[in-house]
Order: sequence, then C-alpha cells, then structure tokens
Amino acid sequence: MLDLQRIENDLIEKLLHCQSMHGLNQVKSFFLGKKSEIAEGLKAIPQINPEDRKDYAKNLNITKQKIENLIKLHAQTLEENQIANHLRHERLDVTLFEAHPKGSAHLISTAIYDVVKIMQSMGFVYQENVEIETIFNNFTGLNIPENHPARAEQDTFYTTDGRVLRTHTSSVQVHVMQEQQPPIRIVCPGRVFRNDQDRTHSPMFHQLECLCIDTHVNMSMLLQTIRELFRAFFGKEIPIRLRPNYFPFTEPSAEVDIQFEGKWLEVLGCGMVHPNVFKMNGIPEHYRGFAFGVGIDRLVMLRHGINDLREIFENHPGFLEQFRG
Ligand code: DAH
Repeated sequence: MLDLQRIENDLIEKLLHCQSMHGLNQVKSFFLGKKSEIAEGLKAIPQINPEDRKDYAKNLNITKQKIENLIKLHAQTLEENQIANHLRHERLDVTLFEAHPKGSAHLISTAIYDVVKIMQSMGFVYQENVEIETIFNNFTGLNIPENHPARAEQDTFYTTDGRVLRTHTSSVQVHVMQEQQPPIRIVCPGRVFRNDQDRTHSPMFHQLECLCIDTHVNMSMLLQTIRELFRAFFGKEIPIRLRPNYFPFTEPSAEVDIQFEGKWLEVLGCGMVHPNVFKMNGIPEHYRGFAFGVGIDRLVMLRHGINDLREIFENHPGFLEQFRG
C-alpha cells in the first residue's frame, strides 16, 4: 500500500525549495508523471482486493487532486513573485526627477525657432529640405555657372555619387519653385556645409532662407521684411545697411550688415530673384521675387556675445549652461 501522507509531505518539502518554473516542472513530473508513485498506484487498482479497492482508489484520487492543486498554487506564487520582482527593479521614483539637471533647447535651436516664428508672423510658410543635394539644385538651378569658384572642390563637399552636401539653403528655392506656383512665401532653416574651418567658420553651419514670389514684390518690401526680422529678433531697432554685391541667383544683389555695439557686421545675403532662375525653374516671367539667406550662427554669436563660433558646436555643458532659459 502507498503511504499517501508521506507522498504529500515529500511534495511540500520539495515545493518549499522550488524557486523556478523549471524546477516546478521537474517536481510535477516526479509526483504526477508516468513513472510517479501515484501513476503506479493508479495502474495497480485492478490488483487491489475488492473490499479495499474503492477506498484505495478514492484516497489515491484525493491525493492526486491535492498534489495537482498544490503545484498549481505554487506556480501562481512563483509567477506573482516574478512580477513583484520586476516591479521592484523597474520602479520609477518620480520624486527623483528634480535631482536631474534641467535641460534646455540649444542656442541654435532657439534662434531658428525665433526667426521662423517671426517670419511666420509675416505670412511665410515653414519648409524643410534635404541636406544632400543634386548639383542642379545647389548650383545650376540657381544660375551659378559651371566655372564659378563656389563649385570648386576646396569649398564644396562632393559625395562619391556625384551629389553635394548643400553649400547654402538657397538650394531650397529650386525645390520650391519646381514644386509650387506663386504666390510663394517660404522660410527654410537648415544645416549647410563648406570646407572651411577657423574661429568664425565651421564646416557645418546654419542658414535660414526666405523666398517671396508674387506679382508686385520689390526691393523695398525686401528691406522692410529684413528690418522687421532684426527688430523682432533682437527686441529693438537695429540699424542696417546694404552693400551692393554679386550673387548669381539675384539681380540686384546685396549684402546686409547690422550695426551691433558700434560695429557693422555682415549677417545676410539678399536680392531680387534673377530672371534666369525663374526661367530654369518654371516660374512665369511676369512674377517678381525677393530672397535672402541669413547666417543663424552669426545671429546667435551677436545675441549672446560669443566670439568663437566653435564654442556653439562643441557643446561643453559648462558653456551651454550659461544660456539655460
Ligand atoms: N546663398 C547665399 C550664401 O550662402 C546667401 C544668399 C544670398 C541667399 C542672396 C539668398 C540671396 O537668398 O538672395 O552666401
């Protein structure tokens, strides 16, 4: 005869030491599997003499049921422990949040955000575009001749598949003219790339391009727009002056200086869109347009009194922290 009580006690003893599902499966097969005492006992029922058989079978089944229940219960406990463990380890202490230093937007991001917002308030629409450009979009479509020095390899980063890292955001003008019809007013900030590096030049820097095309656009609208942009950006009236210049994609063209702490500083290139640019990019000739490209990094340096451009890009926490808003 089987000692059912002993089997039960053995099980409890084993469960006390069983800490894993894998272990529990082993316990289960030991007590309920094909070769277990219980299975053997069940197989032996027909050999038990008839008066005892009924009780024997009944007790055996009760024990079997108990074993099953205990194992099931233990499985549940293991699972709950596992969840509790997870929760303990993954607990987030939200009160710790304050202990972390507060981050803030980078000076460049803030300046871009501000300029875009100012331009939007004047009806310009935000545009983004690609940094790896075709030669057409970066040069040809902007009336920059084949032999122009800007195309030279010393200045321009060429990719091995014959494209370029855009050297200015003016390339966006080509995209926009090819995809939209006037009236057009866009503001497009972005990174640009030139092979140049010193205290005031970085191989990657930021520009922001604006383009306005409509039937009655003229130079004085361009001037007024620029004036308003600087007034809103610096929060006060800023003296500006125009110097005639040459850009292949505008005629007339000018560079704009702003007066800052007594000095005249160049911040922007601008002009009236050249008829060749319209012609090449599908804008009917009765339209007029103005465009300008402003150096964002330059504006940031002026705004915060920074005199080494590289500091803006090196991102030393000690430097950035000074400007935390
Ligand atoms: N793309 C010129 C540069 O990077 C800046 C510029 C000049 C942009 C005249 C313009 C413009 O839109 O009309 O130097």
